[in-house]
Amino acid sequence: MIPSQKPDLRVRFCGIELRNPIIAASGTFGYGMEFEDILALDKIGAFVTKGLSKEPMPGNPPPRLIETAAGMLNAIGLQNVGVQAFVENKLPAIQRLPCPAIANVFGSSIEDYCAVIHALNAAEGIAAYELNASCPNTHSGGMVFGTDATTLYELVLRAKSVARRPLIVKLSPNVTSIAIMARAAAEAGADAISLINTFLGISIDANTRRPRLANVTGGLSGPAIKPMALRMVYQAARAVSIPILGMGGITTTEDAIEFMLAGATAVQVGTASYADPRAVERIANGLQPWCSRHHIEKISSLTRGLNMNAE
Ligand SMILES: Cc1cc2nc3c(=O)[nH]c(=O)nc-3n(C[C@H](O)[C@H](O)[C@H](O)COP(=O)(O)O)c2cc1C
Repeated sequence: MIPSQKPDLRVRFCGIELRNPIIAASGTFGYGMEFEDILALDKIGAFVTKGLSKEPMPGNPPPRLIETAAGMLNAIGLQNVGVQAFVENKLPAIQRLPCPAIANVFGSSIEDYCAVIHALNAAEGIAAYELNASCPNTHSGGMVFGTDATTLYELVLRAKSVARRPLIVKLSPNVTSIAIMARAAAEAGADAISLINTFLGISIDANTRRPRLANVTGGLSGPAIKPMALRMVYQAARAVSIPILGMGGITTTEDAIEFMLAGATAVQVGTASYADPRAVERIANGLQPWCSRHHIEKISSLTRGLNMNAE
């Protein structure tokens, strides 16, 4: 690389071009505009909205967030304004933001998922859909969509037939084989997959003998899950050829690079924004110097670039 030349940080997946591969993760970045005065949104790749459902949801009773060793347990309960209020009240402001928005979608039945996608299809200002498959399927006795390959396949197939935008399928880590789930999503027509969502966990207060979360169980995120997330991205990358958005515990630029080497085209940053609300921008700002230091001309060349040779 000519010393004065800046590394090319752009990445492309399912027809979307991002200025860099750092995306703010769903549920940790509101509806995007809440962060407008906190960080420079024109420095990040994109953001994913809080999960959107057909009807508004109040979420779970408190306490809903508990800090754990190197992480956090949350049981927010998918609180959101509902897709209609999102389109009417949030989307006009989102359209003015200087980075692409990805809409995170969920439901408790396939019909609900499709209804949300249908409502979003007609609206402007969304780059892609991210399907959160970590919800209990009320029609199948509460089985989580993302933990059964057949159910996931059916959900993705139907969602893809409705979606007029690229469909990213977000996988749950609470499975025996992430490769099987990645393949089910890809075979059903997913344009990309994102992983991982949170790990199911519990926090108990020994003194009171009570669970710390009102919901008892919650989703574990943050640095505590990074090695498992990296392993799952690596395994998914060997199972499918569609693009992968990797996440789970990313707090530094180097963490983001590690996920790209394991197989990710771009990455998402979630819990880190709780400790440092400017984390997404900070991580993105570190890419240019990191690439220059390592003589990387195009950051996209790092994807699946894990060196398996012994030293
Ligand atoms: C408070 C909180 C709320 C979340 N809400 C959603 C959500 O609505 N939809 C979704 O797909 N993932 C949601 N997630 C999962 C994150 O997007 C991400 O997959 C997970 O936290 C792992 O990344 P991290 O370790 O960088 O946070 C949420 C995570 C947290 C911590």
